[in-house]
Amino acid sequence: MISTTLFEVKEENLETGLRGYPVGYCTTSAVDPVKGIFYRNQSIAELAHKQPEEVIYLLYYGCTPSENELVAFKKELQERSICKKELLDQICLLPKVCHPMQLLSCALLLASAYESVQDYREDGLNIIAKIPTIVAVCINFHAGWGGIAPPKPELGYVENFAHMLRVPNASLAELTQALKLFAVLHFDHGGGNLSTFVGKAVASSLEDMYGSMAAAMCALAGARHGRANQDCLEFIQEVSQSIGSPPTIEAVRELLEKRLAAGGLILGFGHAVLRVEDPRAQLFFQELERRYPDHPLTTIVSLIRQVGTEVLKKNPKISNPYPNVDLVSGTLLVASGFAYSEYFTVLFGWARVVGIAIQIVYERCQARGGKGTPIVRPKYIYKSL
Ligand code: MLT
Repeated sequence: MISTTLFEVKEENLETGLRGYPVGYCTTSAVDPVKGIFYRNQSIAELAHKQPEEVIYLLYYGCTPSENELVAFKKELQERSICKKELLDQICLLPKVCHPMQLLSCALLLASAYESVQDYREDGLNIIAKIPTIVAVCINFHAGWGGIAPPKPELGYVENFAHMLRVPNASLAELTQALKLFAVLHFDHGGGNLSTFVGKAVASSLEDMYGSMAAAMCALAGARHGRANQDCLEFIQEVSQSIGSPPTIEAVRELLEKRLAAGGLILGFGHAVLRVEDPRAQLFFQELERRYPDHPLTTIVSLIRQVGTEVLKKNPKISNPYPNVDLVSGTLLVASGFAYSEYFTVLFGWARVVGIAIQIVYERCQARGGKGTPIVRPKYIYKSL
């Protein structure tokens, strides 16, 4: 075998968050800096409006299911979705003072005790099937919406999730529609995003699927990763309140310029890999403009989209001044009736569990001819300060 140099590590590459280092293979998806995310070679635009179960099947098995295969797969997810009552009861004894993402991580650690069969393949499909119930319990308990509505897995993966949530005053049909798109667009994002990488790294010690996923969710909880969707919605609301009515492009531009000059951040722009507007953001904008053109936040977020790049481009240090998925995902949730930004990252986690679980199964059971990858153990160079 001829060995090729994939990446040369120079001193300036140290302390850069492993940016760009190839560390392994990802079989589920790939992120192209210009074209965005592809799930098993299919662009996200092709997949965005497919049934979530069909997309999970594609990510899991690498091919599109036939009609019969899809029916059988849906049934399998339904059967695996039931969670032990003890687990759900224990989640509701956790402290509510923590952020809902911390609650989700704790819930997954509890699931390790109650649900794990200590087999990555089995636990991989099980966690995908059970995560809607686990997340619905976390949200409903934390929000004080009472217990989840009795699960009806036969409704469908996302339909059942929306049904269990009991979101006050929301139209179930609208919410389900938004959550389907949200789920498909967030299922996976290559192998190196922090939560996926952390999940795989923890699993490399042979920690089980649920414990590894708890760690992955801790990684997702941070403001530079999944929490950005919550912070971004709050930023959009702040812009909306500050510029008065009717909102104009000039007022938004002026506000963003002032904010940047004062050292503040313009949220919802930039990405570690993408160098154009995130195609997932474009799909969310299309949906928002088609379904909720008159929602007040639709106007604001569209104005921010229009001028944000122009304002950020004035700073030559910013390498990617383009809208990312977090700029708009929360606005679609609000417009569809889910106006609770502190749960947005939990919804991100609900969806991302799919990609992380499948990638953990690959690394533990299929990589290196089935031997699995060794424990993650990078080298740090000693430096005296
Ligand atoms: C994303 O969905 O954009 C990611 O999780 C962030 C990344 O790819 O690094």
